[in-house]
Amino acid sequence: MSASVDLTTRYLGLDLKHPVVPSASPLSQSLDGIRRLEDAGASAVVMYSLFEEQLIHESLSLEHYLSYGAESFAEALSYFPEPQDYNVGPEGYLELIRQAKEAVDVPIIGSLNGTSPGGWTHYAKLIQEAGADALELNIYHVATDPSLSGDAVEQLYCDVLRDVREMVSIPVAVKLSPYFSSMGHMAHKLTRSGADGLVLFNRFYQPDFDLEELEVGPHLVLSSSDELRLPLRWIAILYGRIPADFALTTGVHNHLDVLKAMMAGANVAMLASELLKSGVWRITDIVDAMTLWMEEHEYVSVAQMRGSMSQQHVSDPDAFERANYMRTLQSFRFDPTGSMA
Ligand SMILES: Cc1cc2nc3c(=O)[nH]c(=O)nc-3n(C[C@H](O)[C@H](O)[C@H](O)COP(=O)(O)O)c2cc1C
Repeated sequence: MSASVDLTTRYLGLDLKHPVVPSASPLSQSLDGIRRLEDAGASAVVMYSLFEEQLIHESLSLEHYLSYGAESFAEALSYFPEPQDYNVGPEGYLELIRQAKEAVDVPIIGSLNGTSPGGWTHYAKLIQEAGADALELNIYHVATDPSLSGDAVEQLYCDVLRDVREMVSIPVAVKLSPYFSSMGHMAHKLTRSGADGLVLFNRFYQPDFDLEELEVGPHLVLSSSDELRLPLRWIAILYGRIPADFALTTGVHNHLDVLKAMMAGANVAMLASELLKSGVWRITDIVDAMTLWMEEHEYVSVAQMRGSMSQQHVSDPDAFERANYMRTLQSFRFDPTGSMA
């Protein structure tokens, strides 16, 4: 890495040597895995998630029973994997954080994954006590109830965040989906409810139908760089307008993706699919290629490029988006006889 290029960045109050961070995935499910990520050059590690359902399975939280009713709760729990199917239970998770803090020097970001306020959020405190430097709260919620208004969904997010926020003093980032009527407003609401950072965006795993077995099956396809554009656009829109750090997740596969994330305004670019597919050493490749690109293009620091392609100075982002939409449609050339140009 060249001393002439300053790759340092700051995310959730943490000073990182560069912005390439492995996001929550099975790569952090063991101490060896976390060590490998550090050896491969990661500047921080986001732990895989501890799930609300997993925690409730453990404790059968009274509060949850009271909120949702024992029967529907018991039925709901029957959809979830059995506790032994999770890789590590809550105690093992906390122990892994403790061991990781002893074994590696890079910051460790814990991850909680849930959708309802309540007793399970107490684990945020335990994650902090285990030594995590920050916490990522993944609110992966598909609003299937037709009677639930958009307002109520937004309130749910803020309530879960508030409960977690009350438990900890370490920085908290919220990982969420892009499916809000007013993404900007929602982002603002979350910062007002205590989010220090936003992790954009959760990737929704679209289940497929198995027509022979008549089953809905899990169908995990790893991402491609094409998927970068959605989080890229939203970080470019929100940068400078929302007082939060931004982590870009989904579609980061190479150094150009990381550079784009920085120019949109992200503090860090997170990867899972690329590391699962090609190996954790891709982190070093990407950091090296990024450094070279910056030297060739005469950038001296990540700070200098951060937000340079954001919409911070666009006075009317709505009109800008409309104009881009029209330009995109009009740029398509086709052959009226039938084949595409
Ligand atoms: C196998 C697998 C496991 C994952 N587990 C988690 C998890 O436990 N918690 C979480 O917040 N995200 C999890 N993710 C989502 C990733 O952190 C990431 O946000 C998503 O894959 C998009 O990034 P990518 O395009 O780099 O893969 C997982 C992704 C994969 C592929």
